Amino acid sequence: MDRRPIGLLDSGVGGFTIVKKVINKLPNESTIFIGDSKHMPYGDKSREEVIELTRKSVNFLLSKNVKLIIFACNTATAAAMDIIQKEIDVQIIGVIQSGSLAAARTTKNNKVAVCATPVTINSHAYEKEIKYRNSEIDVTEVATPDLAPLIEQRKNFETNLKAVEHDLIPLKEKDFDTFVLGCTHYPIIQKEFAEVLGKNVHIVDPADQVAQYTFNVMRRDGLFNIHPSIYHKYYTTGDPDNFAAMGRAFLGDQNLVAERVDTEN
Ligand code: SIN
Repeated sequence: MDRRPIGLLDSGVGGFTIVKKVINKLPNESTIFIGDSKHMPYGDKSREEVIELTRKSVNFLLSKNVKLIIFACNTATAAAMDIIQKEIDVQIIGVIQSGSLAAARTTKNNKVAVCATPVTINSHAYEKEIKYRNSEIDVTEVATPDLAPLIEQRKNFETNLKAVEHDLIPLKEKDFDTFVLGCTHYPIIQKEFAEVLGKNVHIVDPADQVAQYTFNVMRRDGLFNIHPSIYHKYYTTGDPDNFAAMGRAFLGDQNLVAERVDTEN
């Protein structure tokens, strides 16, 4: 039995999409989520900057005595996970491996499309991970740099739809049957993606697989909590009211509050 919380980090509110699935899959676990909204987006920063920022959030989570850390951010996973894992003993779980596994299992015509931030796309992490699972799969990667910042602004359906339509133009002639939401912000506007992609394309949200993988790791390592009292805490380096409002809307928890923290110290 291990009462310590699970730690999660993201550049902003996107991590709520992973928090939700993790809480559903592991209802007896406490969680601590930090969104680095002050520095979002990570997707157009240099790899070095993303590593530095991610390290600060990791240190914050370690100061809260977490038992494992989920990088609920594709950009941080692509740029920083391997490096930071070598620096700490606590296990890190990323989102790209899980999303790739789900995509490889889902496609029937061996054609997968992925959209993500420029850092994630330029790393070709999805292409490598999907092909590692099945080298026959053709992977098309599209950078969608404006979507995560737009989602942080909590715009309406029509505005989001136009942005998704515009960003997916490069995929118009491609006959993929599986589409990966390669940024944890994107499931927040999954309806808009579904509208643009049509009903014949299966949308993969890596969060489901991440939650399952986290469950498997915790079972393997004997990390489950059996103590009855648990908690969920939310921190941001940005505006706590905006952060909490997104959390309340996405998790359906009207009591959710967020605290501002400074990870620079
Ligand atoms: C971003 O900060 O640019 C998006 C984070 C992600 O890749 O999930």
